[in-house]
Amino acid sequence: MEFYQTLCLLVSLSAQALLDLPFTTAQSCHPVQSNALLQFSNSLTVKTDMYPHCDPKTTRWENGQDCCLWDGVACDNVTGNVIGLDLSFSCLQGTLHPDSSLFALRHLQSLNLGANNFLTSPILPELSVFTDLRHLNLTYSNFSGLVPTEISYLSKLVLLDLSQTFNGTSTYAPSGLRIENTDFKVLVQNLTELRVLKLDLVDMSAVSPSSFVNLSSSLTIFSASSCHLQGELPPNIFSLPNLLDLDLQSNDITVSFPKSNWSKSVESLTLSYTNISGKIPDSISELKNLKTLALRSCMLIGSIPSSLVNLTELTRLDLWNNELTGHPPSFVGKLERLIHLDLFYNNFIGVLDFRVFSTLKNLQFLGLTVELNLDSNSTNYIFSELEILELSSCNLIEFPSFLNSSRKLRQLNLSKNKISGRIPRWFWDLAKDTLSILDISSNLIEGDIPQFPWKELAVVDLSDNLFQGPLPTPPLPTFFFSASYNRFSGEIPSSFCKLSSLRLLRLANNNLSGSIPHCLGNLTELSVLDLGANKFEGTLPRSLNNCALLGQLNVSYNKINDTFPKWLLEAEFLSSFDLQFNEFHGQIDPPTDPFLRPSLRSFSIANII
Ligand SMILES: *[C@@H]1O[C@H](CO)[C@@H](O)[C@H](O)[C@H]1NC(C)=O
Ligand SMILES: *[C@@H]1O[C@H](CO)[C@@H](O)[C@H](O)[C@H]1NC(C)=O
Ligand SMILES: *[C@@H]1O[C@H](CO)[C@@H](O)[C@H](O)[C@H]1NC(C)=O
Ligand SMILES: *[C@@H]1O[C@H](CO)[C@@H](O)[C@H](O)[C@H]1NC(C)=O
Ligand SMILES: *[C@@H]1O[C@H](CO)[C@@H](O)[C@H](O)[C@H]1NC(C)=O
Ligand SMILES: *[C@@H]1O[C@H](CO)[C@@H](O)[C@H](O)[C@H]1NC(C)=O
Ligand SMILES: *[C@@H]1O[C@H](CO)[C@@H](O)[C@H](O)[C@H]1NC(C)=O
Ligand SMILES: *[C@@H]1O[C@H](CO)[C@@H](O)[C@H](O)[C@H]1NC(C)=O
Ligand SMILES: *[C@@H]1O[C@H](CO)[C@@H](O)[C@H](O)[C@H]1NC(C)=O
Ligand SMILES: *[C@@H]1O[C@H](CO)[C@@H](O)[C@H](O)[C@H]1NC(C)=O
Ligand SMILES: *[C@@H]1O[C@H](CO)[C@@H](O)[C@H](O)[C@H]1NC(C)=O
Ligand SMILES: *[C@@H]1O[C@H](CO)[C@@H](O)[C@H](O)[C@H]1NC(C)=O
Repeated sequence: MEFYQTLCLLVSLSAQALLDLPFTTAQSCHPVQSNALLQFSNSLTVKTDMYPHCDPKTTRWENGQDCCLWDGVACDNVTGNVIGLDLSFSCLQGTLHPDSSLFALRHLQSLNLGANNFLTSPILPELSVFTDLRHLNLTYSNFSGLVPTEISYLSKLVLLDLSQTFNGTSTYAPSGLRIENTDFKVLVQNLTELRVLKLDLVDMSAVSPSSFVNLSSSLTIFSASSCHLQGELPPNIFSLPNLLDLDLQSNDITVSFPKSNWSKSVESLTLSYTNISGKIPDSISELKNLKTLALRSCMLIGSIPSSLVNLTELTRLDLWNNELTGHPPSFVGKLERLIHLDLFYNNFIGVLDFRVFSTLKNLQFLGLTVELNLDSNSTNYIFSELEILELSSCNLIEFPSFLNSSRKLRQLNLSKNKISGRIPRWFWDLAKDTLSILDISSNLIEGDIPQFPWKELAVVDLSDNLFQGPLPTPPLPTFFFSASYNRFSGEIPSSFCKLSSLRLLRLANNNLSGSIPHCLGNLTELSVLDLGANKFEGTLPRSLNNCALLGQLNVSYNKINDTFPKWLLEAEFLSSFDLQFNEFHGQIDPPTDPFLRPSLRSFSIANII
């Protein structure tokens, strides 16, 4: 028995040794392929400033060294052939030519040239020499022109990524790459192994979505967002048996959801900014694994089916800006994994008890426009992960005290409610380091605002309330500040002139007085300045001429006593100005000048003496 065991051990050890052999004596790179790689690398320039942190792999390739050890190169352990080349994000710039030595690497199974800059050169038909290619990734690399027919010869392709977005960014011209209808049809029919197909931002305006009926049943990921697709989406796409992730957002397509037979595997469905006809069917609950359902701005009608409660894996439900009616979906409280819930801009009727949200401890985003019943014990709710809260037109009568638990809050929109009284004391301690958007406009909030405690505030909207006292100065990052329609009084503090990011300043309809500070001319980013209906006197500072981007200026209904500011007629970006009901006097010279400026669309100078 012991002998037998020892023998077994010996046998298995030697078998292991045999298996190990290819590792230890792995073939090194063939000189021809090594040269081809070096030549290819030399045909391109390295721009280390192309993207922050791009990695110039090819600069570390050393002539004479085994190329199988080079960064980004993979060889077959047995034959030594170069079978993989991953030069994505390698700071490379240049053009590909038909005689490029790249095409000598005939054994390639995987090629990734993504996130480089190929200077709008075309994707070459020569790619079809890579008959073993399984992965082809040319994402976000500034290729342009027609996707060649020959790409369909690559019948072993499992992954094809020609998308023009990278890490959520899309700097390249969306029309850079284009695909013809016939070529796409053949691609779909010939690439039967395809599991991942990404074509975001490729111009597919010529492609008929009807050809999607022939998409490979192996397909797991298909994305073609913002591709100018037009026409009807064949519903069988929702039945593709292995589909995990479908993203066809931002296309002019009409989508009809199937009444049954949804693919059970789907985890993410993104059809925002398309035209979905009809309602969300009850059968959507067949998508048991669904984590993301994003149907923003899809013209959806009807109510949200209660069967949605069975999608227990859901983390992201985005139904922003549809025409959904019926009772607000109180069952969302049972979708305990929800991180992002956006029901903003819909037409729900009835009152939603806020308590349904108390179970959603992971919420980072909550957006609602529906009458809310927020009981005064709302301190009982804890939303420690909340980053974005939009409760607009919810009939709130006070600041929701649960916010006290939301230390990570970045954006808060409580506009168009009925919040009255002063801002509660605890609110001033909220998310001091993170809050960047504060919109509490169109309420009945009163009192004065001594100082903003939030260092990162970028957008502040206090308009249409009952605030009084001196005008508070927002912090330095602020670029949008509106305090119109309040009762603020006193002068504009000169500290406003230090807000170098300020693009929009609206202070209309208050009791502000004094003269308009000359130093506002220091705000070189300013594009909208609205000081109408206050009690400003003195002159209109000529320094405003320095605000080269000024597009709208309103100082109407004040007491400004000045000659007609001729410089306005020369301001390059000014599209409207309103000076009426002031003490402007003197000639407009020459009076027809405004009509010569194409950018100027409206001006009002009534009541000029
Ligand atoms: C080749 O080697 C790599 C790493 O050395 C290993 O991950 C891979 O499994 C090997 N492939 C084969 C077919 O032995
Ligand atoms: C294509 O390559 C880029 C850059 O490496 C990568 O971010 C992306 O995920 C790849 N595409 C696919 C579908 O794997
Ligand atoms: C793409 O290439 C064109 C042509 O060389 C160049 O003008 C453009 O700046 C490049 N685009 C990007 C985003 O680098
Ligand atoms: C489809 O792929 C095969 C190779 O598998 C190729 O011979 C054929 O030309 C391709 N058809 C088209 C229309 O591209
Ligand atoms: C992609 O974006 C993430 C988060 O925005 C960032 O951390 C990462 O460095 C980016 N990757 C690249 C390659 O730019
Ligand atoms: C789907 O493929 C079949 C052949 O496989 C072809 O006859 C048909 O025209 C294709 N349908 C579309 C809409 O492209
Ligand atoms: C359901 O989808 C599968 C896979 O696409 C298909 O084969 C089947 O015919 C469909 N069944 C019905 C009833 O539509
Ligand atoms: C949306 O689709 C419906 C039904 O096909 C159609 O009547 C409507 O005109 C479409 N709307 C738009 C804006 O395309
Ligand atoms: C949820 O699923 C269960 C079991 O599949 C079913 O009995 C129930 O009716 C579903 N609930 C809704 C609201 O559709
Ligand atoms: C608030 O909750 C406390 C205990 O949690 C309770 O005693 C009190 O009655 C509640 N107040 C209201 C207005 O519901
Ligand atoms: C405006 O800019 C000038 C210099 O351009 C500077 O002297 C002045 O202090 C600035 N005013 C304010 C209030 O920042
Ligand atoms: C406007 O200013 C001029 C000269 O500065 C002065 O003569 C005139 O009285 C002022 N008009 C009003 C209404 O204050």
